[in-house]
Amino acid sequence: MAKPVRKAIFPVGGLGTRFLPATKSMPKEMLPVVDKPLIQYAVEEAQAAGIEQFIFVTGRGKQTIEDHFDISYELASTLNERGKKTELDMLRAALPKPGQVAYVRQQEPLGLGHAVWCARNLVGDEPVAVLLADDVVLSKVPCLKQMVDAQAKTGGNMVAVMDVPREHTRRYGVLDVAGNDGKLAEVRGLVEKPAPEKAPSTLSIIGRYILMPEVFEHLGRSERGAGGEIQLTDAMAKMIGRYPFHGLRFEGKRFDCGDKIGFFEANIAYALARSDLAKDVKAILKAYAD
Ligand code: G1P
Repeated sequence: MAKPVRKAIFPVGGLGTRFLPATKSMPKEMLPVVDKPLIQYAVEEAQAAGIEQFIFVTGRGKQTIEDHFDISYELASTLNERGKKTELDMLRAALPKPGQVAYVRQQEPLGLGHAVWCARNLVGDEPVAVLLADDVVLSKVPCLKQMVDAQAKTGGNMVAVMDVPREHTRRYGVLDVAGNDGKLAEVRGLVEKPAPEKAPSTLSIIGRYILMPEVFEHLGRSERGAGGEIQLTDAMAKMIGRYPFHGLRFEGKRFDCGDKIGFFEANIAYALARSDLAKDVKAILKAYAD
């Protein structure tokens, strides 16, 4: 029987230059959508998919992420003194259990593939999920849970995919697929950030992956790809034909929070999904639309 997916890697070493000056002294993964940091959405999605070990690949200046997933004694005691039980419970519920979180540093910014490779010793010989906190997915069933359930049937590698406008293929890893084969597309090829005229399709990877541990062997060869970086997409491409490999057309709406407009739209969508905020937000949007 295939091993279950118990571990997840969160590459959080990126500089976040697109959000300067906000990210000058704060990790981009700590930017909030409504009132929750991007990284917490990713961790909660992983928890909902049954992940038990959370591996963060960090870099310089990312300490606040570690603090965020730790107990803050001063804050807890102040909230306690003030009788703020709801807030205390909320903070407690969001904490991973002791020993579930591990941090490893990516020393040089050599690309997403390199970041994932930095976690190899903590993953070992089992399948692993990768979640990019920039991509937030609003859905009934959390995106990674949809993938874990599908992968339990197919086995092998899986990426979450969606169709993008052809002029955007340069932003994504793009699939070569047999045809429109419904919810699960069999992956025949993968290209990182192809020009629109060269893209094999418009079916593109969003930041959710389930990978066989063999990926680390390919990443370990440190071959440079698009943009001179060590690309996860290239290492995944080497596994095509060796294992089942599927793109899951997930259900839900994905927001690219690495981009200002995507981030802004996520804030609106998540606020509108909140019963305590929806009414006021709708009124504001209406006022600005006039
Ligand atoms: C990364 C991956 C790319 C994927 C994208 C999803 O690119 O390299 O294959 O489609 O994430 O967000 P990045 O956005 O880091 O440039």
